[in-house]
Amino acid sequence: MPEEHLPFSEEYTPGREAYLDFYRKSIEDIEAFWDERARELVWYRTWDIILDRSNPPFYRWFKGGETNINLNALDRWVGSSIFNKAAYYWEGEPGDRRVITYRELYREVNRLAWALRNLIGVKRGDTVTLYMPMIPELPVTMLAVTRVGAIHSVVFSGFSSQALADRIIDARARVLVTVDGFYRRGRVINLKESADQAVAIARDKGVEVEKVIVVKRAGNTVPWSGGRDVWYHKLLDEAPERVYVKPEPMKADDVLFILYTSGTTGKPKGIMHSVGGYMTYVYNVFKWNWDPRPGDVFWCAADIGWITGHTYIVYGPLMNGVTQVMYEGAPDYPDPGRIWEIIDRYDVTTFYTSPTLLRLLRKYGDEWVEKHSLETLRILGTVGEPINPEVWKWYYEKIGKGKAPIVDTWWQTETGAAMISPAPGISLVPLKPGSATYPLPGIVADVVDYTGEPVKPGEKGLLVVKEPWPGMLMGIWGDPDRYVRTYWSMFSRPEKGIWIYYPADYAVRDEDGYFWLLGRADEVLNVAGHRLGTIELEDALLTHPAVSEAAVVGAPDPVKGQVPVAAVVLREGYEPSEELEKELREVVRRLIGPIAVPAKILFVKKLPKTRSGKIMRRILIALIEDRPIGDVSTLEDPTAVEEVKRAIDEFKKLMKG
Ligand code: WT7
Repeated sequence: MPEEHLPFSEEYTPGREAYLDFYRKSIEDIEAFWDERARELVWYRTWDIILDRSNPPFYRWFKGGETNINLNALDRWVGSSIFNKAAYYWEGEPGDRRVITYRELYREVNRLAWALRNLIGVKRGDTVTLYMPMIPELPVTMLAVTRVGAIHSVVFSGFSSQALADRIIDARARVLVTVDGFYRRGRVINLKESADQAVAIARDKGVEVEKVIVVKRAGNTVPWSGGRDVWYHKLLDEAPERVYVKPEPMKADDVLFILYTSGTTGKPKGIMHSVGGYMTYVYNVFKWNWDPRPGDVFWCAADIGWITGHTYIVYGPLMNGVTQVMYEGAPDYPDPGRIWEIIDRYDVTTFYTSPTLLRLLRKYGDEWVEKHSLETLRILGTVGEPINPEVWKWYYEKIGKGKAPIVDTWWQTETGAAMISPAPGISLVPLKPGSATYPLPGIVADVVDYTGEPVKPGEKGLLVVKEPWPGMLMGIWGDPDRYVRTYWSMFSRPEKGIWIYYPADYAVRDEDGYFWLLGRADEVLNVAGHRLGTIELEDALLTHPAVSEAAVVGAPDPVKGQVPVAAVVLREGYEPSEELEKELREVVRRLIGPIAVPAKILFVKKLPKTRSGKIMRRILIALIEDRPIGDVSTLEDPTAVEEVKRAIDEFKKLMKG
């Protein structure tokens, strides 16, 4: 791809050398670099060791340091001009609005922290599960939980009660915070009901949720369990109005939060992030990505239920004293102009979203965009999936009016914040549509082949990270072996002291050193920017008595990037039918959630398998993508390919029709 030199507002005249100079210095001495960066933040005690490498890959940042993320997100602003400015402009789906200043946020967090500690009995090190929609009480609760030294585990409100129960059980949470209901496409979703079901499932498995705190959002009638359930507002009412709870001094390598993500087995992984490392990384990367200015209005349109929201709606912006927009509802409700209308209403300067949302809004037609001015936009961001160059250009021209750089940020739940992306906060490099450009300062990334050798420029390979960084996960909750196996086994050479992080993404690095991210290299789908494990879906399908075997793969989708498609072999005595297809999709909805429901169930008589019995998903993928199926010498029964091809061809006809 030829280098395009795109014009931006004058302050963002691309300067590659300035960036690369900064970058090179940062990796000359990574420890010294992060030491300096961490000193910009407030700590109770500075660290003895910047990076403890004594037990790789269990790296520990800022060993001996003590802090609390509240010190930097809230307490630091007391008495400054930021204290009186808006932290959140919140907008509910029905159009109700609230402005929450840093002062109000600080007061409410302190009161809730007091109540959690004194009325609910939450202690340092406890896990509190949050099952909440996009309302201000969600960041308040996260901050209150970390303020008292407890660990939050936020579960996306679109997950089913079974998925919530699995996460409550794994984390052994005794306290759950949820809402009565929230608005989605004009309807009230009764979240309390799902929460109650999850608590019941957890109890059957021996995990007792003792307290359920309920925020009143939609005012709907909810089931209530006296003694266990308590209203959030009643808790706040009991707390002294101006109470101050000292942020619990935490060790830098204590766990700040857990966030579950899908992997290549059925069981979701509880990714653990650290107090000191995550704080330092997120604070800095936020500055580099968005170049925040005092008058900025930042809007990350993700959900806090995912890492993007943790980092770019809660901790990153608050630690930088930024004003944000937060929106509760569907992005195209009541009409496809909702996003652009909100940008104009609050004069948003910095907008961050996913390629999926951009593709959806672009499909509705430019007339929805053209009704709005969008003139305040200065920087635009994307995350979650590769962005198609056409969509990139549309974003750049139609939304940014050719003056806002596109900050394409590659990262993962595990990495804490962006890893590869432009950094206008340092110096903008010339952009290439579809490339996330260069690694951020302190990040040593490469593209290698299966033997671990760097590939030539322009060749496809696997992305790796060769040095630890402060935002890295600490491990997987309750499963240290899985942490080592999943992320550090592919290319590490422990006997030689070489440890290499493996994100499981394909990538190309071009002649100019630009990184192009090409999607997952493992059995994980990326549906609308959300990670779904194929095995997790297969396990769900296999719970239905009709299903004998199931293989789930991703099919390309013009809006969502990928959608799950399942090939299913039925047990003796069951016949394919529309009814059964509906039932199977329902099973997935119930066990995981609406985002995981397969676009199509293909009924087949057999699946292509190796002689050792492993389902060859890559054959299904090749057939779906119209690619050659490649080497099939290990295939047990070649007629299975014909069988699957027939079903897939039918599916494609259906999609076209
Ligand atoms: C996977 C991580 C971390 C934010 C949301 C997703 C894919 C993420 C990009 C990008 C191409 C991307 C990768 C990655 N991904 N950002 N800018 N370009 N691909 O978090 O659920 O942990 O998923 O999303 O495949 O591994 P996640």
